[in-house]
Parts: sequence; C-alpha cells; structure tokens
Amino acid sequence: MPEYTLKIRRYSPETGDAAYWEEFKVDLEGHRSVLEGILSARATTDGSIGIRCSCRAAICGSCAVRINGKADLACHHHLDHAAAESPDGNTITVEPMGNMPIIKDLIVDMDAVHWKKIQRVTPWLLPEGPEPEREYIVPHENMVDVTQTMACIQCGACVSDCLSMEVDPLFIGPAALAKAYRFVGDPRDGQQYERLKDLAEDPHGIYDCTHCFMCIEACPKGVAPMSQIMRLRRVAGSDQKINDRNNGYRHEKAFVKNIEKYGTLHEANLLPDSYGGKFHPRAIPVLAGSLPAIVPALLRGKVTPAKALHHHKLPDQKQIRAIYDTVEGRDSRNELNLYIEGYEDEPVLKAAGEEERGPHS
Ligand code: SF4
Ligand code: SF4
Ligand code: FES
Repeated sequence: MPEYTLKIRRYSPETGDAAYWEEFKVDLEGHRSVLEGILSARATTDGSIGIRCSCRAAICGSCAVRINGKADLACHHHLDHAAAESPDGNTITVEPMGNMPIIKDLIVDMDAVHWKKIQRVTPWLLPEGPEPEREYIVPHENMVDVTQTMACIQCGACVSDCLSMEVDPLFIGPAALAKAYRFVGDPRDGQQYERLKDLAEDPHGIYDCTHCFMCIEACPKGVAPMSQIMRLRRVAGSDQKINDRNNGYRHEKAFVKNIEKYGTLHEANLLPDSYGGKFHPRAIPVLAGSLPAIVPALLRGKVTPAKALHHHKLPDQKQIRAIYDTVEGRDSRNELNLYIEGYEDEPVLKAAGEEERGPHS
C-alpha cells in the first residue's frame, strides 16, 4: 500500500497562536481521495483536525480546500494525482480556501463571504404579471442556456481562487454572478433589466472581473463562472444597452475597436478611447490621474513617446477583418454551453468499421 504525506495547514484563531504546517503519513490506495486521507489522519493520528464534509461524492460542495495551492473538492481529488502534482511527487499540501476567514484548520466561514454574496444577487425568481393558470412553459433553449449555472453546488472553490476578489474583497465574485445569470437568463423572470442595471452600475459588479480564468479552472462542476459573467455583460451591453457609470461597457467597446483597427492592442489609445477619446471631458481627469504611473514608466524607458504614439498594425489586417466579419455576420450570438457540443448537422459517430451517422439516425 503506498504511503502519502499530507502537509496540512493548522490554525485555530481563538488560541491566538499563528498558523503552522503539520505532516501526516497515510497508507491508502492512490485512487482514494484526499478527503479520505484527511479523515484517515484524523481517525488514526489527531482527532482535532478541522475539515467539513458530508456526501463524499462531489455533490454537497462542503469539502472544498486548496490542494497543492489550487481550490478543489477534497473528495474529488485522488491521492495519486495530488501527489503527482506536488513538487516532490509525494507531499500533498492541503490548506483552507482563500478569500474567506478561517474558522478552524481547513474550515472557512462561508457565511461571511460566499453566502453573503449569493444573497446580494437576489437568488430567486421575480416573475411579473398574473400567474398562469397552469405551469410556466420555458423554451427548451432558454433552459439549456441556464443549465450550466444550475450545475453549481456552492462549494466556493471559484471564490477561493478569484484574483479580483483578492484585490477587491467587495467584488460580488464568480459564484454569485454565475447565480445571477441563472435568473437573468430565465424568461420567467420579470426583472432582467433591473438586475443587470444593478450589477453593471455596482463598482464591484460584472465589470470588476479581470478575466483571469481562475474560477473556470477551479470549478469542479464545469459551471465556468467567468463565462456566465461574460453572458451577463453581453445581455447588459448589447441587448439592454446599459451604459454603466463605471465605464465597463465603453471600455469593452474600445477594446473591440482597438483590435479591429490595429490587430494587436494599442494600449496608449485604449484608456482615452474607453472614455470617448483623448479630448473628451470624461477622459481628461482619468488621463491626469494616470500620470503617476505614466511618468515613472517614461523615465525608466518602459514606454517611449514614439511607441505610445505610433503603434504598428499587423501586416495582414485581412485576417483580423475576416474574424470580425465572421462574428458580426452571425444571425444570433453563439453561446458555448456545458451540455452542447458541435453542431446539429454534424455526424455523431465515426468509429472504425462503422458508417458515419447523422444526428437523428
Ligand atoms: S475570471 Fe473574473 S470572476 Fe473568475 S476568478 Fe478571475 S477575476 Fe474572478
Ligand atoms: S461555480 Fe463551481 S466552483 Fe463556484 S461555487 Fe459553484 S460549483 Fe463551486
Ligand atoms: S463531501 Fe460533499 S462534495 Fe465533497
């Protein structure tokens, strides 16, 4: 039986002692989970290890911790995989999730951060008008569209690893914004505009995400919270025409125009263009406010006036144009979804010795 080393971060705030690392040896098969390793260490060596768990089957969402620095469900991570990912191939580091206060050892206070943020987005349906006599009929495509957010088990792994939340703890965050899309994308909800206006105008709302992809990597259920945030932005900006006071919508538009024009990002133009151009009254205080960053960059030669003013376009702009034409020429937006792959008319089977079959054969 292989032996694994679990290096667990221990901390009990009420003792006043600093956090420390403690190692435990566990003899378990490699296919057993990190959670089983922790529970084994608790049963055989130290009954005071704090860990929260229930289903042990990646369903309840209660056992999320950081394994080798990345958030995941402890019951969903095999010991042999975790060991292989570790620097010495054996010592598995287990810590509590980030961005949330620690209650004890691996147990964090989900109420203080995660659930508070979920409450912030009004996580229930707000239908309008008289109730129908029978059940609401929701079009299939709408249901498929929100099913990905419905896969969330509220484990908090995405919240733990969100880089934006590390800088701005008030950021509503990936899990709560994914939850918001659950209702924004539901045609039975009568408050789509109000919900989006609220989330766009909040300085810690949908435009506070920096697209770092960490939440997508962390999520054990394929919810892809960042993709749900992008959906919220598309509906807010393109469908509901919400021009928020945080300048998020204008900044996105400026980005798209910038790449369309140059092929690569012309950073010197991005900031003023996001505010309506260099001479727009909105841009002047922002440009003045960025001088403390620009002047040292100029002095250190990181930016030169020539580079800032003259940005070379990509030699083959036709390729960029072709991408824009393809995307803009679509009749409707393509939204990638966890449960949909490929196209309806694509053959579904190409196994050796078998004839290709269409989707309905
Ligand atoms: S993509 Fe956005 S929401 Fe997701 S972890 Fe990064 S900053 Fe947070
Ligand atoms: S979105 Fe994924 S990572 Fe975030 S709480 Fe839900 S299941 Fe967990
Ligand atoms: S114990 Fe339920 S998800 Fe891990």
